[in-house]
Amino acid sequence: MQDQERFIWPHKDLLDVTQLSREQVRHLLDLAGQFHEINQRPVKKVPTLKGKTVVLFFAEPSTRTKTSFDMAGKRLSADTFSLAKSGSSLVKGESLKDTALTLQAMSPDVIVIRHTSSGAAQFLAERLECAVVNAGDGWHAHPTQALLDAFSLNRAWNGQFEGKTLLILGDIAHSRVARSNVHLLTRMGARVRLCAPRTLLPAGADTWPVEIFDNLNKAVQGVDAVMALRLQLERQQAGLLPDLREYASRYCLNLNHMQHAAPGARVLHPGPMNRGVEISSALADAGQSLVLDQVASGVATRMAILFLHATRKDTGER
Ligand code: CP
Repeated sequence: MQDQERFIWPHKDLLDVTQLSREQVRHLLDLAGQFHEINQRPVKKVPTLKGKTVVLFFAEPSTRTKTSFDMAGKRLSADTFSLAKSGSSLVKGESLKDTALTLQAMSPDVIVIRHTSSGAAQFLAERLECAVVNAGDGWHAHPTQALLDAFSLNRAWNGQFEGKTLLILGDIAHSRVARSNVHLLTRMGARVRLCAPRTLLPAGADTWPVEIFDNLNKAVQGVDAVMALRLQLERQQAGLLPDLREYASRYCLNLNHMQHAAPGARVLHPGPMNRGVEISSALADAGQSLVLDQVASGVATRMAILFLHATRKDTGER
């Protein structure tokens, strides 16, 4: 790919966006742009990763992340293999370490892992020779989601993060997407606001580089994009929410709220969506919604991530 010869990707693994410099993010987004262009062609397959092997190890359900990594690998001509927890020997009690060492013995170039436990990707990265890409670990991080969100926003904002404001709305306490997006967007020069009831804000959020609101009408004023997050309905049972209808009346993002955002402001949602709970159905389907653009961005961005990690020359950096 263009410019690849001159740019040295230093990371064996992608565990969180906190490990990436602004220059590295820019390089990854530029590369994703080249793959996005390939994805618009009638024939979308290129031989770039022919002979490379990618294992998709998803110990937690996924539609978007798993499918787009699989498609990304196949479009680059890599061989991709999927392992789900339900079909693996994890259900017979085999440990995560033994499962990973077993997979590595088959000599993959990249293992993409999603796991319910925070730190699972790092645990494997420290023990495996091949590249490990974190596809979401517990409440900790979802770096590839933040990178694809940045790719969509970068295109919507004409390549400018500086001077732009993103509002992240909803269940931030339990969201690895929110954590990774706060780090990435602020690193790239954007401002980030959070809006949630206090029970759905994480401990320590007041130390993050963000502005915090509990009133959506105030939070949305003048923002350039709003990212609504899935309300994890299981939290209602934990007593963190008074009542679902009350929550939706205060925090369900709709077309009227967007009237108070900046002209041309866009709406994002990482999915899966609870329509009518955190986002109105009309807004999810409106022209200003980037929800399906995010899905398309996910394929291009994950092609860039697989390319960088499968072709990296070892510099000794972990
Ligand atoms: N956004 C996201 O991670 O979606 P999936 O759970 O469907 O992969």
